[in-house]
Amino acid sequence: MNILIIGNGGREHAIAEALLKNKETERVYISTHNGGAHERIINAELPNNDIASIDKFLAKTQIDLVIVGPERFLSEGIIDHLEAKGIKAFGPRKSAARLESSKAFAKEFMEKYQIPTAKYLRYDNYMTALSGLLEFGYPVVIKADGLCGGKGVSICQNEKEAVQALTDIFHNRIFGDQGAEIVMEQFLSGFEASLLCFVSGNKIYPFDTAMDYKKIYDNDLGPNTGGVGCISPNPYWTPDLDQQSNEIIRKIEQGLAEENLGFTGILFIGYLVENGKLYVLEFNTRFGDPETEVLLPRLKSDLLTNIMQAIEGKPVELDFADNNVAMTTILVSQGYPGKYETGYEISGLDLVDPDILVYHNGTKQIIDANSDPKVKVVTNGGRVLSVVAVKENLAAARQAVYTNIDKIHFDNMSYRMDIGKIIDNYKN
Ligand SMILES: Nc1ncnc2c1ncn2[C@@H]1O[C@H](COP(=O)(O)OP(=O)(O)O)[C@@H](O)[C@H]1O
Ligand SMILES: [Mg+2]
Repeated sequence: MNILIIGNGGREHAIAEALLKNKETERVYISTHNGGAHERIINAELPNNDIASIDKFLAKTQIDLVIVGPERFLSEGIIDHLEAKGIKAFGPRKSAARLESSKAFAKEFMEKYQIPTAKYLRYDNYMTALSGLLEFGYPVVIKADGLCGGKGVSICQNEKEAVQALTDIFHNRIFGDQGAEIVMEQFLSGFEASLLCFVSGNKIYPFDTAMDYKKIYDNDLGPNTGGVGCISPNPYWTPDLDQQSNEIIRKIEQGLAEENLGFTGILFIGYLVENGKLYVLEFNTRFGDPETEVLLPRLKSDLLTNIMQAIEGKPVELDFADNNVAMTTILVSQGYPGKYETGYEISGLDLVDPDILVYHNGTKQIIDANSDPKVKVVTNGGRVLSVVAVKENLAAARQAVYTNIDKIHFDNMSYRMDIGKIIDNYKN
């Protein structure tokens, strides 16, 4: 079986390696370029990262299954498109992907099915949005409705910041049409927890829990990023939260069925825990990055089998190791999530312990005939490498991750030192 994965980050690399554990898998193609490619993970190097170039590739390469990583393709309806051509594809159709691609749609869904979420109002113009500010105290959260690559949410501490956010969205149109509408919502304070789930035949099958680290600097300081560290299971998850989560999952299942969304794929539930109560902040309709990098190494069931079960609408027999902990710290380019430089050679990957997993988030292989070895791996993104350890407990995983990071080098390398260090004030 040959599989094409759309996307080229650490999440896609982790999925590719997990698929290769099934002996039915011959080759996995990555749609563009991932520096972790080897004999069985092949860079398809699609010239344009769009549906037309995917079609061209599929016309000349025998592919049995397409798995879609990034949300943009899902919101453009790539699954509907591939299904119409008779190609097996894993992910939600456009109508179900709206749970991620429209925050207003997701909030309405939550409201209708009584899923606990922050109070909200939606607006499609500056003046009424301005008056809406009176409904909320500060801080207030302002979210562009559409997909903004993780940049569409502003937490505004005062009126000045809120007016600025609304001006940017409605007048300066910094998100274009993705900001044609906004959701304004109440700020919740607490800690976040992410739960990935398979969805098959409107039934939800959760993965084990994970906790990602979003801020760029130690002690959760600095701007938000795509995620620069992650641990699984989430050390702050309790049986009580599990019970609340199960109730929420039943309500989501009811909504999926009643709305007839025909959801197949991955649903990522972004939770926030405030005073012991679980709220849904948002949905994503695909594998999370970096959650995937710590969840898949802990999977005992076979990923390809689980994906096929979901595509066929059967129960998904997910199974997780319950006696281990996975942790990743992500090595980033200095300056990320702002401006950064790329193209720096990465050394030391061959020195890493054999039980450590290194997934490539933003790297590239280049061939230099004059050097030995001839293939060099260079940095090619803000997030560069995920260094993952799976050990019997968090302390051992943390130690293994940081000991191995010391063996890896590239210019302008930066990373958080405090991933996996337990901070007790999360427990509220
Ligand atoms: N109501 C809220 N209260 C507090 N923080 C929030 C709230 N909504 C979002 N956030 C913060 O903003 C981040 C991004 O919001 P989210 O809805 O997940 O959008 P996206 O991931 O699409 O940018 C969240 O991970 C959380 O840290
Ligand atoms: Mg989010």
